[in-house]
Amino acid sequence: MIFDLDLERVRNRPGIKWERHGSDVLSAWVADMDVEVPQFITDAVVSRIESGGLGYGFYDEPIPVLEAFKNRMQKAFNWEIQTSEVLRVHDVIQGLEWVIRTLTPDGSGIVVQTPVYPPFYSTIEASGRHWVSNPLIETEEGWALDFDHLESIAADPDVSTLLLCHPHNPCGLVMTREDLTRVVDIAERNDLLVISDEIHCDLVFEPLRHIPAASISELASERTVTITAATKTFNMAGLRMAFVHTASERYGPQLKEISTRMLGGINGLGQIATVAGWEHGDDWISELVAGLDHNRHLLFDLLAEQLPGVRYRLPQATYLSWLDCRELDLGENPAEIFLSRCQVALNSGLDFGPEGAGHVRLNFATSPEMLTMIVERMASVV
Ligand SMILES: Cc1ncc(COP(=O)(O)O)c(C=O)c1O
Repeated sequence: MIFDLDLERVRNRPGIKWERHGSDVLSAWVADMDVEVPQFITDAVVSRIESGGLGYGFYDEPIPVLEAFKNRMQKAFNWEIQTSEVLRVHDVIQGLEWVIRTLTPDGSGIVVQTPVYPPFYSTIEASGRHWVSNPLIETEEGWALDFDHLESIAADPDVSTLLLCHPHNPCGLVMTREDLTRVVDIAERNDLLVISDEIHCDLVFEPLRHIPAASISELASERTVTITAATKTFNMAGLRMAFVHTASERYGPQLKEISTRMLGGINGLGQIATVAGWEHGDDWISELVAGLDHNRHLLFDLLAEQLPGVRYRLPQATYLSWLDCRELDLGENPAEIFLSRCQVALNSGLDFGPEGAGHVRLNFATSPEMLTMIVERMASVV
């Protein structure tokens, strides 16, 4: 049902995804889904507006959204946290910049697993730090972290931080407990901060499960700052609400020194929607992930049939696919060609770092019918 969409409505939906290129272009770029916002979110937000309760929210404990965060982490990931360890922010990237500026030395190196979500680069650079690339490697089983390379770059005294995208955008890699244990071990031996962006945590396909990086051990908890949100899961990025968590005795007090005025008050409706999602969203998330699972396989079949020159590994998580189009000979930026020649909007791989030349990112969180049209249009180019 979730993916049974009214495509006319989708194509005319307000917002950057469908408005930027107009309704004749099929949009599979920015990370918004085409699914409808779940009814329990709409109901909660509308009811709040209708109640007239748009005044100041709570700033003394208990803060409902922090209680909801604590309960959700416990229930979904068996992760015990305290509300006093959590700070509310407007969005994940704001949180990331704040954490980098507060906890890492100016000019230091921050390791990223590339190709990676473009704002990681811009946030690191804007904060006066530099990124150090640890390219993901392809193995028989799929994408993997290159631990040998990570060992060597982590030992550079210039490097202060390991920034994880967990699950990984755009490759869909889900790190296992063994992976996380190795990451934390490297961080411990080299005295590094671990920042884990876990915004895609709910969108993991069976048999894998999301394991919060900070949850695996005392050592991990002491080293890690987690940044996450409910906005990807419930398709409500515009409501701006995210969380920064750390139980670390070393990092927690430093983060709490932030001027609350610089962070600003947090969006009331974003909080209402987040609480509603975590209280009522379990069945919806299961249905969503089942639909995405179907779509990631459908995309595989469609590409095999119609665009066999495109290499695509099934993502283990997210609704994003990383397509290697180099065999199609469309040059460095195939996204530009797909847009101009067949009116399909994808993300250019170039934005995701040096490994992105000849690649595109395709967002498959749409109806099977739309996904089929997208691949058919793409195939008409070659
Ligand atoms: C890995 C990752 N982090 C952060 C974000 C953006 O989060 P926010 O809008 O809360 O800054 C996205 C959006 O696609 C993402 O994929």
